[in-house]
Amino acid sequence: MDLRTRYLGLDLPHPIMPGASALSDDPDTARKLEDAGAPALVMSSLFEEELSGMPLSGNTAAQGPLPSAYQQQDLRVEPDDYFDRIYALKHAVGIPVIASLNGTTPGGWLRYAMAMESAGADAIELNVYKVCTELGETSEEVERDLVSMVDTLRHKLAIPVAVKLSPFVTALPNLATHLGEAGCDALVLFNRFYQPHIDWPSLTPSRTLRFSDGGELNLRLRWTSILAERVSPDLCVSGGVTSGQDAARAVACGAHAVQVVTALYLHGPGYIEKLIEELVAALEAADLHSIEGLRGRLALGNAPQREAFVRANYYRLLRSNRDSAATGAS
Ligand SMILES: Cc1cc2nc3c(=O)[nH]c(=O)nc-3n(C[C@H](O)[C@H](O)[C@H](O)COP(=O)(O)O)c2cc1C
Repeated sequence: MDLRTRYLGLDLPHPIMPGASALSDDPDTARKLEDAGAPALVMSSLFEEELSGMPLSGNTAAQGPLPSAYQQQDLRVEPDDYFDRIYALKHAVGIPVIASLNGTTPGGWLRYAMAMESAGADAIELNVYKVCTELGETSEEVERDLVSMVDTLRHKLAIPVAVKLSPFVTALPNLATHLGEAGCDALVLFNRFYQPHIDWPSLTPSRTLRFSDGGELNLRLRWTSILAERVSPDLCVSGGVTSGQDAARAVACGAHAVQVVTALYLHGPGYIEKLIEELVAALEAADLHSIEGLRGRLALGNAPQREAFVRANYYRLLRSNRDSAATGAS
């Protein structure tokens, strides 16, 4: 079975990689992931908040001198730790290491991507986790900032750049097109938004880190299908991948790669091996011999039942439910 794929400029033996989380940061766990067959790793994020107040951070467009090297003197402890981790990981494993930069503003902090590159990262995943609360802020401004961040990184880096996107975008195909034009190499669909839990009767919002479940996958599959073969960035599904068959579904919709996190937390790093076996079994069951032969079969432009991904599906679903309720009532 030929599981090879190309994602973010990287030739990978198969498409299932550990997504961003602290799992990939520890060299011992990273080695276990590699031994189980992980084709690449995404590190946990370096957050804009960790860099704020530092000499290189701010809300103005990135300008001026860039961090020359990974040992830059004026980096404080947290980012230094992060660059040390990249360096340690690159020595611990032979697979590509994707560093993750997480923030919201097109500010000087983006220049830390340069230091990530200097420390040995093979690619950068930019996670723009923005919760828009300002009444006067328009979606156009938010999207323009995102495109400008990619543009900034693209001009400063030689390594590929992926963007991990929010699902809450009104016109995703248009944004994806602009990101591609700005030089974005891949889109990771999607970020998960962690919602506060409201405790009762104290009415206290609390933080909860909830693992995902398979129910989150279909949203990703739909948008992968809609974007596939129509926008220039590669596509990677992240969220709700619980089995090798899920990975096959993502590839069928047009994904070049898939990321898993929850499944690895629940079952351990060795689970990658099982996911790969399941992916092979899924292809065999469909009488397919390669990932390339599967990719995009359910892309919107190719899908025999194109309407499954668009409004017609919604209309028919609700209509048939109404009809059967009426039949049941009579
Ligand atoms: C414990 C934990 C830590 C995470 N850390 C990060 C992170 O640092 N940066 C990031 O972009 N996503 C992070 N994520 C989100 C995951 O990369 C992923 O988007 C999400 O868990 C959905 O994938 P899954 O369904 O396979 O878990 C984290 C998720 C978990 C559960």
